[in-house]
Amino acid sequence: MLSVENVSAGYGKLQVLNDVSIVAREKEVTVIVGPNGSGKSTLLKTISGLTTIYSGVIRLDGVIISRMPAHQVARHGLAYLPQTESVFSHLTVAENLRMAGYTVPKELYSERVSRALSLFPQLTEYMNTKVGNLSGGERQMVAMSMALIRNPKVIMLDEPTANLSPKLATAVLQIVRSLASDLGLAVILVEQNAKKALEIGDRAYLLVGGQKAFEGSAKELLNHRELSRLYLGLKAV
Ligand SMILES: Nc1ncnc2c1ncn2[C@@H]1O[C@H](COP(=O)(O)OP(=O)(O)OP(=O)(O)O)[C@@H](O)[C@H]1O
Ligand SMILES: [Mg+2]
Repeated sequence: MLSVENVSAGYGKLQVLNDVSIVAREKEVTVIVGPNGSGKSTLLKTISGLTTIYSGVIRLDGVIISRMPAHQVARHGLAYLPQTESVFSHLTVAENLRMAGYTVPKELYSERVSRALSLFPQLTEYMNTKVGNLSGGERQMVAMSMALIRNPKVIMLDEPTANLSPKLATAVLQIVRSLASDLGLAVILVEQNAKKALEIGDRAYLLVGGQKAFEGSAKELLNHRELSRLYLGLKAV
């Protein structure tokens, strides 16, 4: 389990997050939504060890990770797919997977690759294709496979459906759901596409201006007349 406890953080002197607390449990999709600039990506970067933390602590399975550098946090089982693309476009799918697996013991590598590809069977056809030639959805699948090869406990995804067609977005979110339900990971999902994300989510947090404005079940937030209208672009039902 991952817990962010009363964390204030930002970039140098620029404070973005103000006293934020969240919990992400294994087998659950924890959804983080909020307007542009509200600090969603900053929260994921903070958990990954990429910002300045002024106060508060972050724990992963009881271990304090908030004073560790990013590479050490990753070694404790945290995978982070940033909002910008995290694949090597000029390399093939197979080469991307090998890059991701360079710290994985040899005897475990092929098993990890098979497990990742079982979630994305269509990628097997493209093992020798340059990732730059794949569709946006396929590139997202490569990025997720790369994260899974390292066998994380927690996976954080920053807007994995950005630039995807509605149909592909739904497919990607179904896979995100199965990362929690089938593989048992704790998933933290940041999404602009609030409705679709909340539909597959368990717990939800709304960030506004770097502060937590709501926490509860995903369903509760989805059905919250006031908040969904104000911040999620959803019409009151
Ligand atoms: N590297 C950085 N250095 C300085 N300020 C930054 C940096 N990254 C983000 N910010 C600022 O922090 C604030 C929160 O940005 P953040 O990217 O966390 O928002 P967000 O909720 O992810 O927005 P979006 O929905 O547009 O992705 C913004 O005011 C932004 O300008
Ligand atoms: Mg963002």
